[in-house]
Amino acid sequence: MKAIVLKQYGGIENLKLEEIEKPVQKDNEVLVKVISASINDWDWALLTGKPFVIRMLYGAFFKPKIKILGVDIAGKVVATGKAVTAFKPDDEVYGDLSECGFGGFAQYVCAEAKALTIKPSNMTFDQAAAIPHAAALTTQGLIDEGKIEKGQQVLINGAGGGVGTFGIQIAKLYQAKVTGVDSLDKQAMMKSMGYDETINYQSEDFTKNGKQYDLILDTKTNRSPFQYLKSLKSGGKYVTVGGHMSRLIQIVFLGPLIKLITGKQLKLLSLKPNKNSDYINELYSAGKIRPVIDGPYPLEKMPQALDYFGQGKHKGKIIISVGDEDNTLI
Ligand SMILES: NC(=O)c1ccc[n+]([C@@H]2O[C@H](COP(=O)([O-])OP(=O)(O)OC[C@H]3O[C@@H](n4cnc5c(N)ncnc54)[C@H](OP(=O)(O)O)[C@@H]3O)[C@@H](O)[C@H]2O)c1
Repeated sequence: MKAIVLKQYGGIENLKLEEIEKPVQKDNEVLVKVISASINDWDWALLTGKPFVIRMLYGAFFKPKIKILGVDIAGKVVATGKAVTAFKPDDEVYGDLSECGFGGFAQYVCAEAKALTIKPSNMTFDQAAAIPHAAALTTQGLIDEGKIEKGQQVLINGAGGGVGTFGIQIAKLYQAKVTGVDSLDKQAMMKSMGYDETINYQSEDFTKNGKQYDLILDTKTNRSPFQYLKSLKSGGKYVTVGGHMSRLIQIVFLGPLIKLITGKQLKLLSLKPNKNSDYINELYSAGKIRPVIDGPYPLEKMPQALDYFGQGKHKGKIIISVGDEDNTLI
């Protein structure tokens, strides 16, 4: 099979399209013919080996252990391991493989059955590949941790990326008034998606404009926790899904103390991959959410697409077309 193989930490010159052996599923795994995959922050971190903690997480300081990147996939079941009862050949599935070895940028991947969900028949493979990681971060950030309520004032920082483009759709289900913060390039797209107000972070600091919110969802934490407090109403919540490591550590350690003193909550979300996928399928089937897709780009252009992601130029989710339903390369 064809796959994009990571040779060394660094830049995209270390990603090579190669012919390698097709994997064989273990008893608890499903062999999936990948049709679409999407790019995530994990892929960028595993390519660059930064932040350094990513090397510790995967026990690979000098040479990457994860050879084939790709967290989010959508495709067709080819075969199932002996212990798998939930899937059968030809089922159309999608999922987040971050807890079972990655491997999405390849024609075939073995995924633990628990990482997969049946794809609604009206959802395209490209749409399905855009959903798992970003929609899970969004629903867990806004609903599970943020406990969003009807009519609240919500701010999403990083509003034009994967989480932000799902975030506006989820927040609007609660009739929230939503402010989106992102770069100048993304302002028009954010307005067209329904953000009530948009802020260009390159020219305005939302923590210094005097406005306050009931709930803030952040994908790019880069300030001290005390700065975010100024933007929260009394009893407000700030939930971050990612950002600078030192700032995230401050949120974890100072958050409980700050809550005790001010009543405002600052939390770091720990993603539970593939949780809420039934709810996300329901929302999709009811026409309430649609992924924003950048691409699709063919498998051989995945390194360039990952570079484009690293530069932050993408809007929504970057999709890689790995194969068609007969698995010829597109
Ligand atoms: N908590 C967990 O367990 C967990 C698990 C997996 C991933 N994550 C994290 O979740 C996040 C995923 O977010 P995503 O998929 O939405 O990422 P994304 O698609 O890269 O979107 C991030 C957006 O933020 C914008 N941005 C960059 N710098 C900014 C700044 N200083 N202020 C405001 N916006 C800024 C980017 O646009 P420009 O570049 O044009 O500015 C981009 O549109 C990542 O931080 C990832 O590390 C967390």
